[in-house]
Amino acid sequence: MTTQVENRPPMKDTPFVPIEKIVALCKRRGFVYPNSEIYGGVAGIYDFGPLGVELRNNIRRYWWWTMVQMHDNVVGIEGAIITHPRVWEASGHVENFVDRLVDCKKCKRRFRIDHLPPENVASNTCPECGGELTEPRTFNLLMETYLGVVEGDRMKTYLRGEACQNIYLDYDNVLKSSRMQIPFGICQIGKAFRNEVTPGNFLFRQREFEQWDLQFFVHPSQMQQWFDYWKEKRFEWYKGLINHKDRLHLRAHGSDELAHYAKQAFDIEYQTILGWQEWEGIHWRQDWDLSRHSQYSGHDLSYTDPETKERYIPWIVETSGGVDRTFLNVLLDAYEEEPDPNGKEPRTVLRLHPSIAPVKVAVLPLQKNKEELVTTAKGIHKTLQRLMVSQYDDVANIGRRYRRQDEIGTPYCVTIDFQTLDDQTVTVRERDRMTQVRVAINELPMYLLERVSWQ
Ligand code: GAP
Repeated sequence: MTTQVENRPPMKDTPFVPIEKIVALCKRRGFVYPNSEIYGGVAGIYDFGPLGVELRNNIRRYWWWTMVQMHDNVVGIEGAIITHPRVWEASGHVENFVDRLVDCKKCKRRFRIDHLPPENVASNTCPECGGELTEPRTFNLLMETYLGVVEGDRMKTYLRGEACQNIYLDYDNVLKSSRMQIPFGICQIGKAFRNEVTPGNFLFRQREFEQWDLQFFVHPSQMQQWFDYWKEKRFEWYKGLINHKDRLHLRAHGSDELAHYAKQAFDIEYQTILGWQEWEGIHWRQDWDLSRHSQYSGHDLSYTDPETKERYIPWIVETSGGVDRTFLNVLLDAYEEEPDPNGKEPRTVLRLHPSIAPVKVAVLPLQKNKEELVTTAKGIHKTLQRLMVSQYDDVANIGRRYRRQDEIGTPYCVTIDFQTLDDQTVTVRERDRMTQVRVAINELPMYLLERVSWQ
């Protein structure tokens, strides 16, 4: 991501941030709350607070802007969470969407077999206490639900286990109702549900989460070219979002990890205290999805080339990532406790990219008991809030107010002081370098917009 003024300082090689610090900050400052907390909570389900919803919306909007708005050959849809149950038979989820689990007979911990170190699988021992493990049991991850009210006449279906299925279901409608021709893509952002048996690590593995998908439909002869194109694009997109560029890499799936239809797959991985973990998958889905849905629905989803009249099932490049994992990773990437040169409390700062920061600007009168300062500050806040998320704050001394904004990642603080009353300029303080410049009030909106919007 670039802004017109892209001069963020490189981030120092800070240690990995413990997840607990992010959990605490998120709760304290209103980013994320445990769901149903007053009832004791539900593992793997979270709610987003006032700042969290702003950050999420910004992340989503930036993805949509890059993927849909900026590509003439990509359109978007928004599909329903519940679909016909046959969808999940055709997709293979009813049969194959399973985790195999073992329990330790001694310490009672539960593990997914595919997460166990190979030596523990071989010796059938617990990686924590060395105890003996039980025989593996298989669990389907799909969440069931029922449609209809009359007992005995209710239809069992599922909350979608992956959001992308709607894209295959709507593919033919999009083709007929838009002017798209192959090669073209369909995007969607939407919730997905999985009965994860080991939810954990905060937003990393949840039971209700949100995915963003591109399904790009191509002629088989162009598959490799488009696969490479999207792999590169998506990698660069994530790189533009973070400070620690060296903590991002692409990992090719080994032959034992590949889905049966895939010739290749890559994970974009990010390194945190949890190690290298998947952030987004780039998948070679070939003709699997449209063939299966043609077969299960009886509706022919093949494509006829308008010029050559060749008829074929399009192949698909999928890029599938998580909104929640992005939310967590950008916080882990941005969080820093900077030692204070005067030995005071360290400065906690979220070095979020200005374009996704939940609050773009804070407007601060130097003193709250000086009416002219307050009136001017409120006027500036009113002007700015039409253009971006602006916060007015006159509580506590200016240093504390700066700290409050640093902790939530606000890139700019505007201070209205006595000079403002003389020359109609304000102080603009930048979060990362803490530099201060004077800007004329009438130039302030453009000054800030240039620095907080992506282009
Ligand atoms: N349609 C392909 C698909 O669903 P996936 O690798 O299972 O592939 C794609 O999921 C992305 O969704 C992951 O890279 C991750 O960012 C996110 N994701 C998957 N399971 C998740 C979970 N339980 N909690 C949070 N995010 C998850």
